[in-house]
Amino acid sequence: MVIDDVVIVERDGPTAIIRINRPRKLNALNRPIFDAMMTRLDDIERDESLRAAIITGTGRAFCAGADIGEYWRQGPGAFSEFQRLGRSLHQRIETLPQPVIAAVNGFALGGGFELALACDLIVAHEQAVFGLPEPTLGLIPGGGGTQRLTRAVGRYRAREILLTGRRLTAREAQEWGVVSAVAPMGEEVRVARELADGIARQAPLPIRALKRLVSEGADAPLETALSYEQQTLIGLYATDDGQEGIAAFMEKRPPTFTGR
Ligand code: COA
Repeated sequence: MVIDDVVIVERDGPTAIIRINRPRKLNALNRPIFDAMMTRLDDIERDESLRAAIITGTGRAFCAGADIGEYWRQGPGAFSEFQRLGRSLHQRIETLPQPVIAAVNGFALGGGFELALACDLIVAHEQAVFGLPEPTLGLIPGGGGTQRLTRAVGRYRAREILLTGRRLTAREAQEWGVVSAVAPMGEEVRVARELADGIARQAPLPIRALKRLVSEGADAPLETALSYEQQTLIGLYATDDGQEGIAAFMEKRPPTFTGR
């Protein structure tokens, strides 16, 4: 189903595949892409039959970052408004109830790496490259690169990338714990779909709860996060699916979950 020129969304069973489609500019993020991504993510949230989303790119890049052309000859007001668009997109991904998997099909630089870091899981093909080259423009990353990366890999590894401009291969990103699986070139969406299928086999409400617990809990004090975890579990116990899952185990039959 083609929704938009710059962002194509297809449906594969319970998974939505979102493809950034601006290959001649290595899928650099401009306003039309931000707008289309926001609209499509809103559509995905409304469709409860969708259990996960995959974000990937067309051509040889996942995304080579924010469109530097949009930075050129702008005043500070327009520049900060453009930065706000990126932040809103990352927030939209993080608050989407369904898990989002980045299937990195090439360059993931600057805002492209940051986009992947806003996703719940990252898969990459073996030639994919990750980096934050903003200091070469006289700037710094502004879409979470200094913060999400540091939280993901620790401050010493984050400094290595941020301060030296080092690029990571897919294997290195996997060793650093950022990438879950490295796929042969062209197979990254298939591998992401396998992860999405695994998600779709679980009961829906716990998956939504787990997505939030991991993202929000990691930034909260431990005692707060543990309370949040326990309240969430107690809430799930009272749901139809919580009761059904327990009853099915005791009655030695497969559960039938309804998402209620
Ligand atoms: N913004 C706008 N245009 C971009 C872009 C970006 N972030 N990244 C790539 N492009 C464009 C190039 O300008 C070029 O367009 P043109 O053919 O009209 O000149 C096209 O995409 C192909 O890129 P090119 O540089 O020719 O490919 P390459 O294989 O030689 O190099 C990269 C690939 C990714 C190393 C290089 O494009 C690059 O360094 N991009 C910028 C990465 C960056 O700094 N990102 C952070 C932005 S804040």
